[in-house]
Amino acid sequence: MTRTYYLTTAIDYVNGRPHLGHAYEKIAADAIARYRRLSGFDVKFLTGTDEHGTKVARAAEAAGLDPQTYVDRLSATFREAWDALDVSYDVFVRTTEERHTRTVQRLLERIRDRGDDLYEGSYEGWYCVGCEAYKPEKDLVDGRCADHPGLEPRWVVEENLFFRLGAYRDALLAHVEAHPEFIRPDSRRNEVLAVLRGGLEAVSVSREGLAWGIPIPFRPGATVYVWFDALANYLTGLDFADDGEDLRFWPADLHLVGKDITRFHCVIWPAMLLAAGLPLPRQVYGHGWVLAAGGQRESKSAGNVTDPMELVATYGPDPLRFFLLKEIPFGKDGEFSRERLEERYNSALANELGNLLSRALNMVEKYRGGIPDPGAAREAAVVDLCDRAVIAWRHAMDRHQLDEGIDAAWSIVAALNNLIQAREPWRVAKDPHRAEELSGFLYALCEGVRIAACLLQPFVPRTSLHVLQRIGAAGDYGAPVAETAVWGRLVPGTRVVKGEPLFPRLQPT
Ligand code: MSP
Repeated sequence: MTRTYYLTTAIDYVNGRPHLGHAYEKIAADAIARYRRLSGFDVKFLTGTDEHGTKVARAAEAAGLDPQTYVDRLSATFREAWDALDVSYDVFVRTTEERHTRTVQRLLERIRDRGDDLYEGSYEGWYCVGCEAYKPEKDLVDGRCADHPGLEPRWVVEENLFFRLGAYRDALLAHVEAHPEFIRPDSRRNEVLAVLRGGLEAVSVSREGLAWGIPIPFRPGATVYVWFDALANYLTGLDFADDGEDLRFWPADLHLVGKDITRFHCVIWPAMLLAAGLPLPRQVYGHGWVLAAGGQRESKSAGNVTDPMELVATYGPDPLRFFLLKEIPFGKDGEFSRERLEERYNSALANELGNLLSRALNMVEKYRGGIPDPGAAREAAVVDLCDRAVIAWRHAMDRHQLDEGIDAAWSIVAALNNLIQAREPWRVAKDPHRAEELSGFLYALCEGVRIAACLLQPFVPRTSLHVLQRIGAAGDYGAPVAETAVWGRLVPGTRVVKGEPLFPRLQPT
């Protein structure tokens, strides 16, 4: 039976248009989803938008629009961005959808009916609208939230419905300790362990004065706290409210989220699931941040926000995908700058990959008129390096080490470029006694390029398809790598397509 694989991104607040940090996460999740599909899994890939809460309500007000009109407009910009970046999501959840309302209400009722985890109480404390969470006084720096120093926390006093989070502390701690893979990377796991060891306070799950939210069926006038609402989206996408067939995808294999919201996913969300009697996700991965050049976090007030759509319009989706996935060691923070993107575009994509393809195809065309028959000439070293690249690629991708996955595929590109220099096939072509050697070498170049293109699919899908088409192997695109990343599939005699340069060099601006 085909194994299912359910992965999700965070769902983005629609208090502004998508920025590069949002794009990074969706691109990374897309690479993982594509890898799993290529590995034969039945994949469900969810993303979406988080549309309730104070932050979004305020943004709508500032835009002079009623909240629903505002979120409709903004949510569409996220979907457009992910489509332009070839993010191959299967489900897009909006938290203002009716199916989501029913999911949240059903989850709450289920928790209420199973015990006494929901209770009446009162709370007062500092609320950070940026985090959409109460902040303990000790976590404030000069009276401000460390992640949102531009926002003034509000002192909020509320009669609320509470969720007895503390009741799940021991079970969560035991789970995290027993399952090292539950939270990745280790730095995030250690943070969560420290939080759990420090003890957990109850969290309020209702908002009394906020109309922009999901009504709590058994509490007139109250709406659901935005995080409680948002986290349930991972069930909405599987038709939880209707006991949908897709529930076979639960538990999720991977929640990919930023390091700032790992705690919500590793503490509150699993506690909600335990309280509802549902199985826990297999893994939460807290990725790092994309920072502006100089290491600043992008923010509107600092005026350093990069619009991913503008980058796609200028360079195309693959150079941006390649840059973000290759340059940021997965799990860590990394810097983005347009200069560096252009530099990598020219040096890696145009010079290394683009040149390799055009040199290989030109020689095949010029010396053999199509993919040559290698005859008895087998380039054992190239076969071997491709085999090793496939193993390294799988090893990296199974651990979501996307940068290492690119490196593995690239090891073939780099080795073939070096071999062309070292072997000087244009000289070999002049000697009729070395015809078989030349055929073997040209065939090996084509096979190496084909296998590299197969391994590059998760990262630069359009480019991979293009390369495979040019080399007469379009049928390999999207097919299981167990079949395609294997030496000897190219059929001698296949016509190659010389075509235009893959990545025309960018001129310095
Ligand atoms: N709506 C919540 C998530 C709810 S999930 C049930 C939220 N939204 S967000 O728009 O603020 O962030 C969405 C995702 O983008 C988060 O995973 C966040 O960590 C990520 N990023 C936001 N800025 C980022 C960078 N600069 N770099 C990388 N990812 C960052 O939190």
